[in-house]
Amino acid sequence: MLISFEGIDGAGKTTQINKLVTYLNSRNQEVLTLREPGGTEVAEKIRTILLESRQEISPIGELLLFSASRTELVQQVIIPALAVGKTVILDRFFDSTTAYQGYGRGIDLLLLQSIISISTCDTVPDITIYLDIEAEKALNRIFAKTSIPLTFENDEPDRMERSGLEFYRNVRQGYLDLITRNKERFICIDALLPEATIHRQIIAFLEERFPVFLL
Ligand code: TYD
Repeated sequence: MLISFEGIDGAGKTTQINKLVTYLNSRNQEVLTLREPGGTEVAEKIRTILLESRQEISPIGELLLFSASRTELVQQVIIPALAVGKTVILDRFFDSTTAYQGYGRGIDLLLLQSIISISTCDTVPDITIYLDIEAEKALNRIFAKTSIPLTFENDEPDRMERSGLEFYRNVRQGYLDLITRNKERFICIDALLPEATIHRQIIAFLEERFPVFLL
């Protein structure tokens, strides 16, 4: 079973992934959690280039770097894990590329489709949990973090997070369009609901969709 989480930065994916993993572990489910970009040695190096670089990266260069990172993760980790029956939870997958590089950076969606198909070996999540938040509110959350004294360098907004409000508005629109086109795979939850409510909605949805899986 492959479950992906999506949403614009600041939507609270990580909190919900941790809660879901705790829940599944309590049901004796072994879960592998992975984040994109990253997850293999090479993919983590690409992550550093993508997120920490102070240099400009062209939209196509950015697309190919995210895709290169994904190929490594899919071939080395995701496909082998699914083959032995593991549950894999992904903090972002190819829908991020459609939303960020397609709608955000304006790369042609048909071109994106081919690159996504090659880089994922056509691996598609069974379910995609999208946490919806308006761009303004998401950016407020990200930048609010930086107004308190920083303890780690990583608390600073990364290269993507510095892309601006218009960019994030387009990314969100991208996600909303993706949901309309892939209703069978997506669940959309309001990211501003209390954390416990969001968690309950996720579990209720999984129970309804995959009753045997959560026994
Ligand atoms: P990360 O720190 O993992 O952010 P978040 O906690 O919001 O997931 O950074 C990943 C960033 O990369 C995030 O801004 C989304 C962006 N991204 C893309 O633009 N395209 C992609 O294909 C992926 C996987 C991520």
